[in-house]
Amino acid sequence: MNKNIKCLISAGPTREWIDPVRFISNPSSGKMGYALAEEAFNRGFSVDLVSGPVHLEGPQGVRLHKVETAIEMEKTMLALFQDAQIIIMTAAVCDHRPRECWEEKRKKAEFPTHLEFVENKDIVGALSERRKTGQKIVGFAAETETPLQHALEKLEAKGLDWIAMNDVSDKEIGFGSDINDVTLLSRRGESIPLGRKSKQEIAKGILDHIWP
Ligand code: CTP
Repeated sequence: MNKNIKCLISAGPTREWIDPVRFISNPSSGKMGYALAEEAFNRGFSVDLVSGPVHLEGPQGVRLHKVETAIEMEKTMLALFQDAQIIIMTAAVCDHRPRECWEEKRKKAEFPTHLEFVENKDIVGALSERRKTGQKIVGFAAETETPLQHALEKLEAKGLDWIAMNDVSDKEIGFGSDINDVTLLSRRGESIPLGRKSKQEIAKGILDHIWP
């Protein structure tokens, strides 16, 4: 019964290149997004997974779109967004990219002591500006301090229906972990603690609530 419902999920980090051999990124493993994609497929949804570089196999039955940079992720998400009813943005998108990416490897002696950065577009914010009736848009909030306040601000500023708040300063659930501890917050004021569980169990909890 879910087979005509399209679910679009982003996962993993982005890479922002400085030159052909160096980039800025973050330690996102992609595990949460891949677990969500697998669970969504198991529930019968038609699933597109847009993934930054990770060491994971694409889940069976899921259409995997590999990207590297935030700009590539934005383009791919925008192209797939129109047909999707459920959009879940777990990717740890780099907020900035180097202003310049050198075509040739920068030699050690010529490497600058300062790099200039420009801001990447807020992808989920851009999607929610284009939202159609009936679409559910879910973000993640990776926080290290006052998580509730920051997550609620992001829920509002990015125009989301739900935000999954997690405290990435907690070593046990930080980047790369197999478990997570998520509280789901909705624009209607709900606050639903899903508890400390495997990312597979958290994925089930998220889908149970956003698409009951
Ligand atoms: N996000 C996005 N595009 C960006 C940055 C973030 O779509 N350029 C999405 C993430 O995928 C996540 C949500 O926005 O769903 C919140 O990301 P997070 O990194 O927690 O917050 P930021 O918006 O980057 O804000 P800050 O770094 O100030 O906490």
